[in-house]
Amino acid sequence: MTQQWWKQAVVYQIYPKSFMDSDGDGYGDINGIISKLDYLSDLGVDVLWLTPIYPSPEKDNGYDISDYYAINPRYGTLEQFKQLLAQVHQRNMKLIMDIVVNHTSTEHEWFKQAMSSVDNPYHDFYIWRDGSPETPPNNWLSKFAGSAWQYCAGVGKYYLHLFDVTQADLNWENPILRQEIYRMMRYWLELGVDGFRLDVINLISKQQSFADDTLLTPTADGRKFYTDGPRIHEYLHEMNHEVFALRDGLLTVGEMSSTTLESCVLYTNPACKELDMVFNFHHLKVDYVGGEKWSLGRFDFIQLKQLFNTWQSGMQAGGGWNALFWSNHDQPRALSRFGDPINYPYQSASMLATAIQLMQGTPYIYQGEEIGMTNPGFTHLEQYRDVEALNAARLLAERGHSEAEILAILQAKSRDNARTPMQWDDSLHAGFTTATPWIEVAANYPELNAKQVISRDNSIYQHYRKLSQLRKSSAAIVAGEYQIYFADDPQLYVYTRSLVNEVILVVNNFYGENCTFILPEALQTYSGVECLLNNYPELPENWRQFTLRPYQSVVLCLR
Ligand code: GLC
Repeated sequence: MTQQWWKQAVVYQIYPKSFMDSDGDGYGDINGIISKLDYLSDLGVDVLWLTPIYPSPEKDNGYDISDYYAINPRYGTLEQFKQLLAQVHQRNMKLIMDIVVNHTSTEHEWFKQAMSSVDNPYHDFYIWRDGSPETPPNNWLSKFAGSAWQYCAGVGKYYLHLFDVTQADLNWENPILRQEIYRMMRYWLELGVDGFRLDVINLISKQQSFADDTLLTPTADGRKFYTDGPRIHEYLHEMNHEVFALRDGLLTVGEMSSTTLESCVLYTNPACKELDMVFNFHHLKVDYVGGEKWSLGRFDFIQLKQLFNTWQSGMQAGGGWNALFWSNHDQPRALSRFGDPINYPYQSASMLATAIQLMQGTPYIYQGEEIGMTNPGFTHLEQYRDVEALNAARLLAERGHSEAEILAILQAKSRDNARTPMQWDDSLHAGFTTATPWIEVAANYPELNAKQVISRDNSIYQHYRKLSQLRKSSAAIVAGEYQIYFADDPQLYVYTRSLVNEVILVVNNFYGENCTFILPEALQTYSGVECLLNNYPELPENWRQFTLRPYQSVVLCLR
């Protein structure tokens, strides 16, 4: 195993709550995952990432952990988790855990102790500030709406919660807290997990001034005081030393909220000894009107390409490494957002997969993406479950939006879009459960389900398999230099990945109309060509100039 094996790997994200229910309670579980391991192995993925399965009151679907050392009984037992690990390893795959250490649930024992008295040693595990019951310590806003502070009458102070009021931020300034976190991470390593996905990890170091923000724009909400904060590199370096350095061959990926390229180079350049790779979200804000998530607008294609280009070139130049993704449990379905699920479901889903996966970085597939799952198009507010969506609906109503407008925004933007049950087959509840699922299944499951998609020769699932194989067979896809072409073209996203004399040319039509591709000047010297991937049956007749059909994507190897 090479040190950086994960450069050649494909990661698959499982949202256990909605993946597969084995015991008929309407919630997915560990045994459900075990029953689908062959499906995942056939897909050609190398690593599985599980979103949190620890005990939790589930106010934020498990990102509010109340015990770091156990498994939520709803998902199964520790024994079943060990079984899962063993079965994953038997299939030559790996498994990484989601670690949430910016905050805990307020039901965590530490927090219960912390709010019992200011003299309790756990009090300092959290962030407390003075304020009167009417006036919070500053004007920072929670990412889930409202003030980021909650008054606690018991100790006469406010605690900070950047997310829900039940998710209290941990005080990383406290070295004892940090050691407790590292000890917990070592516990999971000793159980045999292969790495970690670190939730909003760039928010853990807060500027101790706790100054007010301007609130003049949607992002002037306090984030500049705690995003990529003053001691973040020190903490990650320490975590690396205390945890990651203990085992070779781990995969560590940080979720970086509103981050910068400069910070991400430092997070992932191996010389800094922090993390292996990072998620950033700039490319997923290209449909925020005026920076506002809860708005409706088509995505800005030119801006999307600019962002890809900035991050690809910048991370490459700085020796950093990207995690490549369109989708996760916090994002609407990419096919509904950037493709055309009605007229060109296969073509647009496969084009999006090609475009993202062949850039420099490690690709992530979110459950259901491989079968072309779409936003469910819920028609009633009661169908939504997510705390963020429900808070947003309240806020939008306060701002005077009608119920129909609110619904239209949630249909496009809610995180629940990605959280509906995995569509396995056309039986009741899409084969996900025999009970009533915790959130409704998308109505299109009778036609759109894994069983049906896999049975077709030219399916999105097969396309993902080919992409995984391609990654394994091409050094240029793993390590080649990225170069964009026609950055201002309104329809095409074209780039190359070159290594020594292997050049992979990736040509993607992002829209439902034909368009023409002409080989860039700089590539005219190549005389040989091999088509590696194409989501249409016909090969281009003249590879120096050809017409791309709606959402066509063609990958050529030039020699
Ligand atoms: C991350 C998670 C998200 C969660 C938030 C707070 O962004 O992906 O689901 O709500 O952190 O933990």
